[in-house]
Amino acid sequence: MKLKCLGVESTAHTFGASVVESDISQKGYEKSTCDILSNEKDTYTTEKGGLIPRELAEHHYKVAPIVVKEALSKAGVKLSDIDIIAFSQGPGIGNALRCGAVTARQLALSTGKPLIGVNHCIAHIEIGRKLCAATDPVMLYASGANTQIICYENEYYRVFGETMDIGIGNFLDNFGRELGLGFPAGPVLDKEYFKGTKLINLPYTVKGMDLAFSGLLTSAKKNIPLIENGKMKREDLIHSTLHNAFAMLTEVTERALAHTEKKEVILGGGVGCSKALQEMVGKMCEERGAKLFVPPSSVMADNAAMIAWTGLVLNTKGHKLNPSSAKILPKQRTDDVKVDWR
Ligand code: FE2
Repeated sequence: MKLKCLGVESTAHTFGASVVESDISQKGYEKSTCDILSNEKDTYTTEKGGLIPRELAEHHYKVAPIVVKEALSKAGVKLSDIDIIAFSQGPGIGNALRCGAVTARQLALSTGKPLIGVNHCIAHIEIGRKLCAATDPVMLYASGANTQIICYENEYYRVFGETMDIGIGNFLDNFGRELGLGFPAGPVLDKEYFKGTKLINLPYTVKGMDLAFSGLLTSAKKNIPLIENGKMKREDLIHSTLHNAFAMLTEVTERALAHTEKKEVILGGGVGCSKALQEMVGKMCEERGAKLFVPPSSVMADNAAMIAWTGLVLNTKGHKLNPSSAKILPKQRTDDVKVDWR
């Protein structure tokens, strides 16, 4: 029998809802299907960048019923056809998470269907593993707020390295904002990266297995007046800034591969869509004889299909929450969750 899970994502800018169908209960993880019947979203944006938590919550509460309705109708199902309700429980912005949790709790209470709380970062890993048929990859999770290098070891997804200050996506947006680019700046910066030819000397900060981006950001911003004076080419500054940031991510990913002796790397998070990052990590994998998996963009950026799929996975182990008391976990870490489904 196939089960349908309605997933709700709301950790940050994106409010998403998705219906995923699978025969995982009968066939187990490896052999099961994962049919994404719908994957809808509405994203909060501001003209000048920056996020206002109160406005973010208002946006999510406004779009929640519409996005859920769209997810059901695109999937061609009624709410009564849904077997499981899953939501992103953490980590994330409290105001945003609360909206997803309230929506999912109401849906679970009104249908009497089981409610499952999903860790957002783990959902990125699980959807990537499933859609790419990767068995045991090192994940480079590079998004706005999160930057982590994660590997499975002894029943936990362990964080081998992470940012000590800002997420790589926030770093790119902040740099882009100073250059007068809109939000999100990543796609524009990515195109400019390939036009630059000269490497400018900028900070490169890897400490042990962790990374820091704020020194690089400050230095990159300090160079912007040189573009305005005509002393530096804009594409060269962008090329050099992205080069250092992505080389830092690649270095830590390579060291995680070397330490764990794993043979696969998978990208996740919105910054995973960057062609520059894919090229750099791809070269490193090639040199090491490892395989790089790049999931479809629709599941690399924040989305609800990954929550619905992980809900189906967790359901096989009976992970259920009481809808009347299910809480959000804004500070939940990837390595807080015991992985009993692998
Ligand atoms: Fe994410």
